[in-house]
Amino acid sequence: MPNEIVRFSHVSMQFPGTLANDDISLSIYEGEVFALVGENGAGKSTLMNLLYGLNQPTLGEIRIGGVPTGNAHSPEKAMQMGVSMVHQHFKLVPSFTVAQNILLGHEPKKLGLFYDGKRAEQMVRELSETYGLEVNPSDVVRDLSIGLQQRVEILKALRTGAKVLILDEPTAVLTAQETEELFGVIRRIVREKNMTVIMITHRLPEVMQISDRVGVMRRGKMIDVLETAHTSEQAISSLMVGRDVIFDDLRTEQEAGEEKLAVNGLTALNDRMLPALRGVSLSVHAGEIVGVCGVEGNGQTELSECIMGMREQTGGSVILNGKDISRMKPRQIRDMGVSFIPEDRLSTGVDQKSSIAENLALGKHRTGLLSGLRGIHLRRGKVKKYAQQLEKQFDIRCAGVDEPVQSLSGGNVQKVVIAREFSFDTPVLVICQPTRGVDIGAIEFIHERIIEKRNEGCAILLISADLDELFRLSDTLVTLYDGRITGKFKAGEISMEEIGFYMLGAKVQDS
Ligand SMILES: Nc1ncnc2c1ncn2[C@@H]1O[C@H](COP(=O)(O)OP(=O)(O)OP(=O)(O)O)[C@@H](O)[C@H]1O
Ligand SMILES: [Mg+2]
Repeated sequence: MPNEIVRFSHVSMQFPGTLANDDISLSIYEGEVFALVGENGAGKSTLMNLLYGLNQPTLGEIRIGGVPTGNAHSPEKAMQMGVSMVHQHFKLVPSFTVAQNILLGHEPKKLGLFYDGKRAEQMVRELSETYGLEVNPSDVVRDLSIGLQQRVEILKALRTGAKVLILDEPTAVLTAQETEELFGVIRRIVREKNMTVIMITHRLPEVMQISDRVGVMRRGKMIDVLETAHTSEQAISSLMVGRDVIFDDLRTEQEAGEEKLAVNGLTALNDRMLPALRGVSLSVHAGEIVGVCGVEGNGQTELSECIMGMREQTGGSVILNGKDISRMKPRQIRDMGVSFIPEDRLSTGVDQKSSIAENLALGKHRTGLLSGLRGIHLRRGKVKKYAQQLEKQFDIRCAGVDEPVQSLSGGNVQKVVIAREFSFDTPVLVICQPTRGVDIGAIEFIHERIIEKRNEGCAILLISADLDELFRLSDTLVTLYDGRITGKFKAGEISMEEIGFYMLGAKVQDS
């Protein structure tokens, strides 16, 4: 019998209006990879935040290594007891070096006063060797890829000699290659250090690939715990959603209409002032979805930002409905009929300080629906009613639309942004990573809405790191490599294997 390392006994967590964890009992063992899955808002992050001491359970008891966490649990205490956590949204200081970030608050001091850089780098080098996680201690975090930044987060979490490592949706932001590397790390620390890894994810193939057991949550309850080797993706997904999820082919043949959005020879710099776009040209027609394929970091983000007027372009032009919008402000571009689903929904997608209702209605006064209302109460009432419609339609799981948007689970924030942007009747939609962090039931729903928009004649530019998604939805596929378009294909004209060569720049189409 393996040693029990964590035990939840009848744990409940009540937020105002939401019972996020409902009488959960669960044991987790030494040396296992435990996957935690469930719909958006099921209570996964909440449960792990309890273990990590970010919140106190309202009922029940948590034990780590047999010892009750007590009612003064905190992250400091959790780390002393051997539990560390890497959050979905990294908490690194971008301007600090790798070593400074890893040792933050525990820096070695010269004469007890001055930061001892040499010693710090040495400590990080040793840590990195111990766990087989390669980093360069003197690199500045801002300059690192997301995958490397995550590695720094993991090393930071391991600094205290953790026995249990919690990872909240670690692969959501990773490329396929980076995911493989992360899994290598997980396997190694489990095998060589007998550590326990608890991983929250929405990607069932990953569950099958990496976990020993999988816990399925639904509406606050732990409804089943399965041995991964004795179950299937299908079985897990129907447990999660309470029904089978079948991804059928959604796309129907449709003649594209006139050109709505054109990008001509666009050039731009990235945040580090290096060339990110080196002359990108593409066009999107009414009733057409153009999918941009590429390994992340090849200019996708900059492309969407240039189109939306959020990043200065150094050359070329963006044409909307025949009009040059290259020099326009984001607000003007939106008013001219472009809706936008940004990749980073937390900082650009929602107004963190406002309620769910306010966020859903954001920008609506401009389109007329909620305009012309005199009297604050009248307006508030109408906003609320409108928001409640969207809440229902998009299945946003919340205690009420007047709650702050901050109280929503990760996937439900994404649903708020999508619900709002899809409710504008704009001729052009720019969509980035629409289903990152959303559960499979919601993916199906969002895909159906995207196709619906296209069938209504919307011109859609779809940027995604998920090839399955791009192949499922796009009428036209373009590949972006190192700031250049390396290929353009009609749907069905190219296979996923073949397009990989263009995404990596190994092949370039003659233009
Ligand atoms: N601080 C809070 N205040 C109020 N309600 C909250 C708070 N944090 C979470 N909730 C609610 O608790 C429920 C569970 O949220 P949680 O973040 O645990 O979901 P999750 O399973 O991690 O979902 P996702 O896959 O979308 O990340 C949600 O309905 C959420 O709105
Ligand atoms: Mg979560």
